[in-house]
Amino acid sequence: MTARTATTLDTSEAFALSLDRADPLSGARSLFHIPPAVAAHDPAAASKATVDAPRAVYLTGNSLGLQPKSVRAALEQELADWANMGVEGHLHAAHPWLPYHEELREGAAHIAGASTREVVVMNSLTVNLHILLTAFYRPSGKRTQIMIEDSCFPSDSHAVISQTRLHGLDPATALIRLKPRAGEHTLRSSDILDQIHAHRDTLALVMLGGVNYLTGQWFDMPAITAAAHNAGAIAGWDLAHAAGNVPLKLHEWGADFACWCSYKYLNSGPGAIAGAFVHERHLARADLLHFAGWWGNDPKTRFRMGPEFVPVQSADRFQLSNPPIFSMTPVRESLAIFQRFTLPALREKSLKLTAYLRSLIEANNHAKGREAVQIITPSDDNAHGCQLSLIVKPKNSGADEASEPAVRVAHQSLAKQGMIVDFRSPNVIRAAPVPLYNTFHDAWRFAQALSSAVG
Ligand SMILES: Cc1ncc(COP(=O)(O)O)c(C=O)c1O
Repeated sequence: MTARTATTLDTSEAFALSLDRADPLSGARSLFHIPPAVAAHDPAAASKATVDAPRAVYLTGNSLGLQPKSVRAALEQELADWANMGVEGHLHAAHPWLPYHEELREGAAHIAGASTREVVVMNSLTVNLHILLTAFYRPSGKRTQIMIEDSCFPSDSHAVISQTRLHGLDPATALIRLKPRAGEHTLRSSDILDQIHAHRDTLALVMLGGVNYLTGQWFDMPAITAAAHNAGAIAGWDLAHAAGNVPLKLHEWGADFACWCSYKYLNSGPGAIAGAFVHERHLARADLLHFAGWWGNDPKTRFRMGPEFVPVQSADRFQLSNPPIFSMTPVRESLAIFQRFTLPALREKSLKLTAYLRSLIEANNHAKGREAVQIITPSDDNAHGCQLSLIVKPKNSGADEASEPAVRVAHQSLAKQGMIVDFRSPNVIRAAPVPLYNTFHDAWRFAQALSSAVG
């Protein structure tokens, strides 16, 4: 790409196609099933589409990532091993079930920027949040408060509210909700750091989303982690929208704990099993109280079947149950795809792709002579992943804030044009070009469709 500004960008389709030809990661797309365009407006008809039917522009990897083609055969292998070996599969399956989660460890560590001891794939995201909050949110004396984003995902809010109640606290005073300044959509880093400092005597935990689900803002994770520690608080992260999207260095940054789901950028399927990180400084702690189950016991003594719990000195100590094999298989396959690429290479493409889409949208606004689409995701490369959050203002909907029905009409128009993007009430459309399977031509097609949808 030669230019990012609306005035100098080459907005032709030929240029988009030339960017794809020059893309060193373009081959990764063939590892995934790309839904047909009809899925965007008539999902029931999608299964009847032929293989050569036009493909959708799928920009919803921030919600549900696409299926790696290798998953089907991998699941069939597990089913065959179960059918043929029964219980013997625990030791003799092609991928033995007993140590199955070990096979996911390197891939998860790669994504999290962690050592293999610090990560574990288990449960689902909100369950992991609760397990880790139980261990790390230990209010005592004046130090009882949890800081979250006001616009955090509802499940995070429910989780921390219920945790404060479990400790007999009033969530109205135990929670500090960070709000953007009036007229702004995203939080300023300096405001977050100031708030942490201001609450340094009462803060027990800072728990933010690494990338905000609604705005796509990537927070300054190292600075926030350090500020939380300086304030005497724990730093925990919900990385649902960060894992597989932005490069993470959880170990180096010193985060205390983090968890993420695997069904978004990690392409492991609906409701896929999630991941968790606990910094190594906590792994051998004898004073750490947490829920325990037999799979958190040291494997050396697990099968002695005694009542005492001997925690394994890795993030595995938080595992409760033996691993669900059929849920882990897609995660294994997907993490293996990530391991084929370096995170800097994925990030480089992601930045180019997202900047290109941003430029096309800005060029369309310029051509229309009005801000028909407002991009609320920060443009600073250190403050976003691949998602762009768009407030669309269809032509006859009023100048500034379009009504929900008008945005829904624009969203339907996008669907009719084969675009799969999602809509968040009241007026945000989220579009996430994913470097593994989206193309520059996808970005070009989406910008064209969006321009027509807003009139
Ligand atoms: C930021 C964030 N946190 C939490 C959740 C809840 O995840 P789960 O239903 O897997 O627990 C989601 C789901 O999309 C999310 O985006």
